[in-house]
Amino acid sequence: MLAAAGSAVGLGNIWRFPYLAAKDGGGLFLLVYLILAVTFGFTLLTTELAIGRKTRRSSLSAYRRLNPRFKNLGILALIIPMVILPYYSAVGGWVMKYTVAYLTGNGAETATDGYFNSFISSETEPLIYTILFMAATAYVVYRGVNKGIESSSKILMPILLLMIVGIAIFSMTFEYTSDDGVTRSGLDGLKVFVIPDFTDLTLDKLSITIMDAIGQLFFSLSVATGIMITYGSYVKSEDNLIKSINKIEIFDTLVAFLAGMMIIPVVFVFMGQEGMNHSGPGLMFICLPKIFASMGTVGTVLGAVFFTMVLFAALTSAISMMEGIVASFIDKFGYSRRKSTAIEFVICAVVGVLVCFGYNILYFELPLPNGVTAQILDLLDYISNNMLMPLLALLTCVLVGWITKPKKIIDEITLNGEPFTRKGLFIVMVKYIAPLLLILLLFKSVGVF
Ligand code: PHE
Repeated sequence: MLAAAGSAVGLGNIWRFPYLAAKDGGGLFLLVYLILAVTFGFTLLTTELAIGRKTRRSSLSAYRRLNPRFKNLGILALIIPMVILPYYSAVGGWVMKYTVAYLTGNGAETATDGYFNSFISSETEPLIYTILFMAATAYVVYRGVNKGIESSSKILMPILLLMIVGIAIFSMTFEYTSDDGVTRSGLDGLKVFVIPDFTDLTLDKLSITIMDAIGQLFFSLSVATGIMITYGSYVKSEDNLIKSINKIEIFDTLVAFLAGMMIIPVVFVFMGQEGMNHSGPGLMFICLPKIFASMGTVGTVLGAVFFTMVLFAALTSAISMMEGIVASFIDKFGYSRRKSTAIEFVICAVVGVLVCFGYNILYFELPLPNGVTAQILDLLDYISNNMLMPLLALLTCVLVGWITKPKKIIDEITLNGEPFTRKGLFIVMVKYIAPLLLILLLFKSVGVF
């Protein structure tokens, strides 16, 4: 369970959640996200952990066990983390670069305008850090030393959480008067983040927000990637799954919420609503250094500790992704752990190089249906989160809701007579609401409407 929590909390919470929330207008995104978390997130996390524990198989063969006609879901569940890992590692590489900058006393420099853009558009540096991040991940997976890493989460995760709380509180104290004489404070920014604004809400905007929020939810909880099935298969029969599900859900959502509180007010103070609408993957890397810079020398130290923690959280998630892929390779092709890790490392490195080149020699601007102007990173992110993950989630719900029936899952999670208060909700979600909404969202994400 610690491993599952380590997998869930990562760049998804600290890097991805804040920039999507900012892009989709703050409060509205947060509200939609929270509603989806207690309905969709809970349903999928429950389903996947239960499938894993019931079948005692990694995702690749778990689906086949449940129903041979659905065996291809295992392949889909293998492809998804293979698409995510290369760009996840690129962002992990950026975190590594910032960690190094802070540790070597060059933290202040990262707060200067244009620093981030000139870093990612340079040809060699991002590449080196991306490969380094991947190599660290592969090393841990190859040596099978995840256990050691996971147990350090027990200490490091609470420290990270405390730091996020501290920085979030500090973010509230910011105030700035822009050139046109408007003064905005951190508290105004907090309001934008937590209070939904329904004025000018169109159906299109709402559906984009739901689509972004659901992809973010899957990404953040590491569901619809097969990983939670694999982790479920390691859980003992006598363990209380419901308790664990609740803990993972609450902790993951809390970290995302607090990361939003830390970053969004600062974006709002310095860039206003307009700046929020245009936020992208660079948001955290542009905002955080500004916060640390305003703290003076303390900021340099805090920045160093903070980026190290984020790097650690990113690594535990990347390790879980690679572990899932490698476990499937071993399972499917009978390769050794060493060979499987080497193959995945090479594939990941090749795609990762393309992701890095997406900001220089392979630069393009591709408009996506959710309003993002994409480079390679955003494109892979969109394909995995907005298309493949909802597709896998949809097919999983059809399988569980209609073929094997929800009772199987319910029996599994209440194996030791645990009370299951959200049982009714679970059944309605998995059979009707989730499939229906996911179909609509898939149409939306491929641009049908
Ligand atoms: N959940 C992780 C995060 O929030 C990312 C992840 C996605 C990990 C999919 C595993 C599988 O950063």
